[in-house]
Amino acid sequence: MKVLEIEGGRTLSGTIRIGGAKNSAVALIPACLLTNNKTTLTNVPDITDINVLTDILEYVGVKVTRASGSMIIDPENMENKIIPESLSSKLRASYYFMASLLAKYGKVSIHFPGGCKIGSRPIDQTLKVFKALGANIEEEEFLFNISADELKGAEITLDMPSVGATVNAVIVGSKAKGTTIIHNAAREPEITDLANMLNKMGAHITGAGTSTIKIVGEEVLDGCFHDIIPDRIEAGTYVILGALVGSYLRIENIIPEHLNALTDKLHEMGADIEINQDSIVVNAHDNLIGVNIKTLGYPGFPTDLQQPFVTLLATAHGKSIVEETIYENRFMNIPYLNKMGANISTKERVATILGANKLHGEEVIGTDLRACASLLLAGLKADGKTVIQNVEHLLRGYEEITEKLSNVGAKIELKEI
Ligand code: EPU
Repeated sequence: MKVLEIEGGRTLSGTIRIGGAKNSAVALIPACLLTNNKTTLTNVPDITDINVLTDILEYVGVKVTRASGSMIIDPENMENKIIPESLSSKLRASYYFMASLLAKYGKVSIHFPGGCKIGSRPIDQTLKVFKALGANIEEEEFLFNISADELKGAEITLDMPSVGATVNAVIVGSKAKGTTIIHNAAREPEITDLANMLNKMGAHITGAGTSTIKIVGEEVLDGCFHDIIPDRIEAGTYVILGALVGSYLRIENIIPEHLNALTDKLHEMGADIEINQDSIVVNAHDNLIGVNIKTLGYPGFPTDLQQPFVTLLATAHGKSIVEETIYENRFMNIPYLNKMGANISTKERVATILGANKLHGEEVIGTDLRACASLLLAGLKADGKTVIQNVEHLLRGYEEITEKLSNVGAKIELKEI
C-alpha cells in the first residue's frame, strides 16, 4: 500500500504547473483507435490511469511510444480482442473502448467498467446511445456483447447530461452512417477537446460544449497531432490549496474560464485571488467566510472539486452547506476530516459544515481519488503530521504530486508500506 506522510502547517509559495486533463486524455486515447494511422498526443498527464490505458492498448496490439508528456498511438496492427477484466475494471474510462471498438469493427465484447466507488454509476445511457445507432446488446454476467450490421446516425436525447454517454455517442457517431444529433449532451470542456481532436482526424462535429451536438459520420478518419487541454480539476485543487496555505502560490498553464464556478465561489468567500490569462495567483488569509455550493454538470460547480472544497470550507468562518447532486456516495472524506478537527455533519447528499476549525494531523484513509485530494489539502493545512493510506487512488489523477508540492515548500513523502 502507498501512503503519503505530510508535515502540515507550512506556507506554500512558488509556481505549480498543471498537466494535461485526465478526463480528456482517457477519452482521446480510445478515440485514436478510430483511424488506422498514427496519432500524436502531447500534454499527456503522467498518471497511473494513463499507464492502465497504455496496457490496454498494447494488449489489443496497438503500438504505443511514450516520451516526456507525449504519446504516439499506432493502431495499424491492432486486433479486436476482449480486454481482460483485470485491466478494464481498473478505471471508468475503459468503457470508451466499447465505443471505439464498436465503431471500428462493428462489434465488441467488453466487461462493465471500473472507477472510483462513489455511487452506482450505471451505463444505461451509453447502452441507449448504442441501441439508437443500430447496435444489438447482449449482457452475460457483466460482459457486454455489442454488435451492429450497420451503425446509422440517429437523434438521441440523453436522460441526463452524462459525460461518459456523450463521449461514447461522439465516438460512435463519428463513424456511423449519416447524421447523429445528441440532445441534453454534457458540456464539459473535455467533450469539446474530444470533438476538436476528432475534427482534426476528419470528423464533422459541431456544437460540442453546448447541449446539442451534431455529428456527420465519416467512413475513414486519419491520424493527427493534438495537444490535450490543461486539467481543470488538478488546477482547481491547487487553487483551493492556495486559499488554505498559499503565499503568492501561482497555478500556471491553465484555462481560467474552465474554473469560473470555483473562482466565483472563492470570491464570494473573500479569497485573495488574481486571475491572469493562463494562471491564477492565490494568497491565504484567516478571514474566509463559508458559502453554499451545489454540484452540477459544467459550467456548474464540478463534483470533482466538491471534496477538496469541503476542506477549505471546514476552515472558513460560519456555516456552509454542500449539496452533492451527481453521486450518491461522495462524502467519504468527511469522517476523516472530522477526525482531523472539522465539524461537518451529513444527511443523505447534503453536508453541513460549521467552520473556522483548526485542523490537526491524523492517520486517515483515502477512499477514492478526490477524497484523497481533500485529505491531502487538510494534511497540508493541519498542525503536525498526517498519514494518508491508500493514496494509489490519488496517483490515478494527480501527476508528480510530491515533486510539485515539495517545489513550493511542502514537506511531503510518498512511501510504500
Ligand atoms: N449516470 C447514469 N447513467 C448513465 C451515465 C451516468 O445514471 O448511463 C449518472 C451517474 O450515475 C452519475 C451521473 O449520471 O450519477 C453523472 O455521470 P457521468 O456519466 O456524467 O460521469 P462519468 O462519465 O462516469 C466523468 C468523469 C468523472 C466525473 C463525471 C462528472 C471520467 C473518466 N470520469 O464520469 O470523474 O466526476 O464525469 O463530471 O471522465 C474523477 O475524475 O474523479 C471522476 C470521477
